[in-house]
Amino acid sequence: MTRLPRSFAPGSFAQTLNRTAPFGAEVTELHPGLGGSNTMNRLVVISNRVPLPSDGPRAGGLAVALDGLMEKRGGMWFGWSGQISPNACEQHVQIQRHGMVDYATVDLTPEEHERYYNGFSNGVLWPLLHSMPDLIQYDRTDAQIYRDVNARLAAHVQKLIRPDDLIWVHDYHLLPLPAALRSAGVSNPIGFFLHIPFAAPDVMEAAPDMADLVAGMLEADLIGFQTEGDMVNFAATAVLLAAAVRQPGNVLQVGARRVLLGVFPVEIDAHEFAAQAEANARKLPVVRLRQSLPGQTLILGLDRLDPTKGLLQRISGLRRLMETAPEWKRRLTLLQVAAISRKDVGCYRALRSALDRESGNLNADFGEPDWLPLRMISHGVDRATAAGFMRTSRVGLVTPLRDGMNLVAKEYVAAQDAADPGVLILSRFAGAAQQLDAALLVNPNDPDAMAEAMVQAMTMKLAERQERHEALWNAIENRTPLAWGRLFLAALLRGAVRGSGRLELVETDAQQALAGTG
Ligand code: G6P
Repeated sequence: MTRLPRSFAPGSFAQTLNRTAPFGAEVTELHPGLGGSNTMNRLVVISNRVPLPSDGPRAGGLAVALDGLMEKRGGMWFGWSGQISPNACEQHVQIQRHGMVDYATVDLTPEEHERYYNGFSNGVLWPLLHSMPDLIQYDRTDAQIYRDVNARLAAHVQKLIRPDDLIWVHDYHLLPLPAALRSAGVSNPIGFFLHIPFAAPDVMEAAPDMADLVAGMLEADLIGFQTEGDMVNFAATAVLLAAAVRQPGNVLQVGARRVLLGVFPVEIDAHEFAAQAEANARKLPVVRLRQSLPGQTLILGLDRLDPTKGLLQRISGLRRLMETAPEWKRRLTLLQVAAISRKDVGCYRALRSALDRESGNLNADFGEPDWLPLRMISHGVDRATAAGFMRTSRVGLVTPLRDGMNLVAKEYVAAQDAADPGVLILSRFAGAAQQLDAALLVNPNDPDAMAEAMVQAMTMKLAERQERHEALWNAIENRTPLAWGRLFLAALLRGAVRGSGRLELVETDAQQALAGTG
């Protein structure tokens, strides 16, 4: 049996930060739960994807985390509208207000979409940062247009910001944006957060532009990561490629400037998600799913269709289970939602074909006239229905080959009925595994281990399920996206003064942050 974890006392997040965040002792004084509204510094979040409330369900952890933060804190959220138009470069920024958030968006041209989004962001950086260099498809023009788009976005932002705004840039689409903003004359504090992993320096070197991109990130005052491993990899890469010098306390010296690094694991609002799961467990989509599975144990996977998610390996694990434990025939169903994503990128298209083939083969080999081991669907389900599906399943399968955090793992825990909880099987290569070590941790590359974990989960006694669930719940219940944002911003304010000497701004804002209003 997998080792049971130490239990997570409230405040252990702060303890984690104390080890890893810049100026840890100061940051740990923050209390994530404090309320209040900000009157001084507007928060300007910049991310490639800006999920407009009118757009419906949002895919991916970035949208979940930032939505949770922005809805409650307010501010401006700038990025791509999701639209493609030939005259995008001549258009003005579109601004619409919902609640406390101004959504400011621009379109991309077809060429920008193809080269900046598909080509370089998702065809090179995504696989590289996930340590899958064999998947990259490098093209020099893609890299140039990636930089051009970042410069164009920076020029728009420069016109929108006010002197006392805090700027927070997100994710791999925007690695050069801190430098582009500085070149455009922006002197505000800039934070950068990477939602996905950062690979080891020898992997990162595979992209010819990496030295430039890392130098671009280093124009931020604070750079945040999901795990300590990601931060360590980044620091080593910055030393190797961008002549940064490591200083004590997670500081990089870059010429005359000091850049802070920190670890800020992304969180969900567990109580809110638990309520959503409970409410939706009784609704029609969930009832219909249950009724379609008489006498069967439901194993659930909910992912974007992505090479990092380990979907083929999951099918191999189920195949091994069917081969080695045929008594489970007719007694289980794996429902795998593999929501189509980035369908114009070569490796995503190839994965779709491989998944169709492998799932067809599995069902053909082991299925019966009235039963199939695997149901694979390629359209996403909305978050409310997903929450209900999670609550009604006995096993949650979250087994990426590599993942920055994976909020589905945290959502699965939050969705469970504490009296009769399901079991989470979690890849040890997901960032979430560091907090959720009471899950059944697996290596997704080992089909036997996957099969064993599924059997262990399906046969686990109630007492052990409850014990594990309690430990998992304790690890997530007191954290929220809002608290995550506050911790980052408080560290940014301190980073800004040490990096560039903005003493006055920091003194007042740090006090405000410590009072819970940052
Ligand atoms: C991940 C990334 C996000 C991205 C999301 C959805 O969570 O970290 O930056 O927005 O996937 O992917 P998409 O390509 O649809 O934006």
